[in-house]
Formats: sequence, structure tokens, C-alpha cells
Amino acid sequence: MSLNVSKRKRIAILFSGEGTNMQNLIQKLSPHKEIEIALVLTNNTNAKGIARAKKLGFTPLVLNHKDFQSREAFDKRLVEIVHAHQIDLVVLAGFMRILTPVFTDIVKAINIHPSLLPKHKGKDALINSFNDSDTKAGVTVHWVNSELDGGEIIEQQSFDKRGLDFKAFEKRVHEIEYELYPKAVIKALQTL
Ligand code: GAR
Repeated sequence: MSLNVSKRKRIAILFSGEGTNMQNLIQKLSPHKEIEIALVLTNNTNAKGIARAKKLGFTPLVLNHKDFQSREAFDKRLVEIVHAHQIDLVVLAGFMRILTPVFTDIVKAINIHPSLLPKHKGKDALINSFNDSDTKAGVTVHWVNSELDGGEIIEQQSFDKRGLDFKAFEKRVHEIEYELYPKAVIKALQTL
């Protein structure tokens, strides 16, 4: 998928744990000359993804949420950092922080969520999707707004979960995420 924009777009990728989506985004988006990965950031000093990013030549900025007295104080600093890096789009990739309007009212951001939203908003979406009585599960990429996992949907892809054990189910979710998220980032950037 190609991106038609007049000016190079600067993105930030935020993660909290394993960082496999962050790694996949770096690998798939770096070849696009219209996109610059200008910032990689984590809120977790022990995130496994830090090593993944370093292997690809990106040293994540660590902003430990435990250093802040409130969600709002953390979000304020995050907004300052995003502005300082002149970011056009923030890409949340397994960033496990609830963001307040201090951030969501100001910053353009997208998120990936392991369920067919609006089903299973919030935490434990993967296990809740696995356990529900539906035959289908899936992945959603959406714009971030002040409602948790409630913004406009950019891309959604479903799969038939019948017959899958949890391990196979999780693997399928990740496979779809790695396909869907880079495409959704480009689609979102196209609208800016
Ligand atoms: C991904 O499956 C992502 O969809 C999910 O966390 C995982 C992060 O994995 N995000 C959420 O649940 C957001 N509410 P990763 O760190 O290996 O990319």
C-alpha cells in the first residue's frame, strides 16, 4: 500500500510490553519514504520491547507512569513530548495506559485492539473474545478519543474461531494484527 502525501509524516509508536506490534510496524513502515518513525516510547522500564526496538536501531524513550502523581500529569508530559517531536500521528501498539482528555483532546492517535469492537472494550479483550459464545473473533484499529476503545473504526478483520485452542487463537490474532496495523497506519495518515 502506498501513501500519497505532500509532506513526510512523522509518527510515534508507543508500547508497554512485548512490543511485537511495534517491531512489526518498524519493519513494515520504515521502507516507506513518506513516513518517519520519529519517536518510539514506552511507559514500562522493563518492557521486553525495548530490546526489540534497539535491535532495529531505535532507542525507546522511557516515560515511567509511576513517576507521575496522576494520569493527567503523565498525559501532560506525554503531550509535551509528542509536540516536541512534531509528531503527526501517535500509533498505540499494546500501550496499556488509559489516556485522559488531556491527551485525547489534543493528539491524533490510533489504537489496535484484539476484539471485534464494540465488543470487549477495555482490558482482557483477548481472553474475553476467546471465551464468548460467538463463532467469530477479530482485530480492530480505531481512532482514539476520550471513550476507552470507543473511537471511529479504521479497519476491522474477523476470523472463524471455532476449533481453535487459546494458543492457536492468540497466534491468529497476532497474525491479523501484523497485517492489519501497518495498512491502517497508512490509511490514517492519508486522512491527515
Ligand atoms: C496486542 O495484541 C494488542 O492488540 C493488545 O495488546 C497486545 C500487545 O502485544 N492491545 C490491547 O489489548 C489494548 N487494549 P505486543 O506488545 O506484542 O504488540
